[in-house]
Amino acid sequence: MDHFTYAGGRLHAEDVPLDRIAAEVGTPVYVYSAATLTRHYLQFRKALDWTDHLICFAVKANSNLAVLKLLGDLGAGMDVVSGGEYARARAAGVPGDRIVFSGVGKTADEMRRAIAGGIRQFNVESEPELALLSQVAVAMGATVPIAIRVNPDVDARTHAKIATGKSENKFGIPIAGAPGVYARAAALPGLRVVGIDMHIGSQLTDLDPYRQAYAKMADLCRLLRDQGHAIIRLDMGGGLGIPYRRDNAAPPLPIEYGQVIRDTVGDLGCEIEIEPGRNIVGNAGVLLTSVVYLKRGEGRDFLILDAAMNDLIRPAMYDSHHEIVPVAEPPVGAEVAPVDVVGPVCETGDTFARGVELPALDSGDLVAFRSAGAYGAVMASEYNSRPLVPEVLVAGDRYAVIRPRPSIEEMLARDVVPPWL
Ligand code: LLP
Repeated sequence: MDHFTYAGGRLHAEDVPLDRIAAEVGTPVYVYSAATLTRHYLQFRKALDWTDHLICFAVKANSNLAVLKLLGDLGAGMDVVSGGEYARARAAGVPGDRIVFSGVGKTADEMRRAIAGGIRQFNVESEPELALLSQVAVAMGATVPIAIRVNPDVDARTHAKIATGKSENKFGIPIAGAPGVYARAAALPGLRVVGIDMHIGSQLTDLDPYRQAYAKMADLCRLLRDQGHAIIRLDMGGGLGIPYRRDNAAPPLPIEYGQVIRDTVGDLGCEIEIEPGRNIVGNAGVLLTSVVYLKRGEGRDFLILDAAMNDLIRPAMYDSHHEIVPVAEPPVGAEVAPVDVVGPVCETGDTFARGVELPALDSGDLVAFRSAGAYGAVMASEYNSRPLVPEVLVAGDRYAVIRPRPSIEEMLARDVVPPWL
């Protein structure tokens, strides 16, 4: 249930017809549904209602301030991986004590900003980072709560570019060496060890890898407690997948995921943190775009859109599938024919999908890419000097532009030509 449905022959976001947004804001544009965001967040809350918990939205999935404020106002915490994301979470009104700071390459400056602004915990990923964080904290007269990200060496069975929990991945410290690292962390000034952190990958469609990884986490928690560490929090990471294809078996639900957490670590009495991104925002957004041309090729036809790989990079980068649907509802039994759906960027990689069965579409018709709310707008660029794609948030029958489309003049104005040229 994602609140993008046909009514009166037109695809709507909640109660707003998408063709109205296209006419008023232009295309391409990302459109998010507030009701869907809320619904997904509340599903996680329900899944963890058996224990003390904090749902830290992974800001990297969608960092628009309006999205962060909506979730923050519902009580969400935030998982950030840069000084910029930390600043966004704070600007959206999320208090520091609901923000966890993850990421493999935190700089001293990023650490200082987060300590000064307030932080719930740093998820530390290496020994050099532990040493630097200790120095920074001591220099500021602070003691900062930390969890250490351990790499359980579990195969998440997802796309290689988004798997993070195998020993060959750059993330975390090997779980076997964790006791030594915890002992050294406990001896460092300025740090207070409070938890264990894990994140094994993204777009997981099977709960088994979680079960294996969390069982290892539970064992580690018991061992560390025996060694005298006061482990009070477990950060289970994010990664629960979403259905990108309607015809596929649906990935597990948050409630089933919550049960795996309960089964594996539920008896430890720890506060549970999770860091979902995609599952909250992925199916809460579409990329709305117009057909520029239908180009008849030799043996194949190309539907050329005004959205391109710079606006939605996922198909080019991860071969990922996004359902493409016309905004005008096709009549029942309408004929379909295969087309290659492409953008205008000068690369063959700017192909969204090949051989998609779509009803007849032509210049000016609107189509929407579904499931584009996560890792869509945040990964957009201005490649080919195409102004950054705007974003709209719908709530009921209202909508607002939450990031306007920059004009070409604004885009150019950011460059500086030195006076000596
Ligand atoms: N926590 C950490 C430490 C992460 O690295 C990530 C995602 C998450 C949480 C959130 O995972 P999620 O619940 O969204 O799966 N750009 C790629 C996805 C990269 C995910 C990286 N880490 C894509 O478009 O598929």
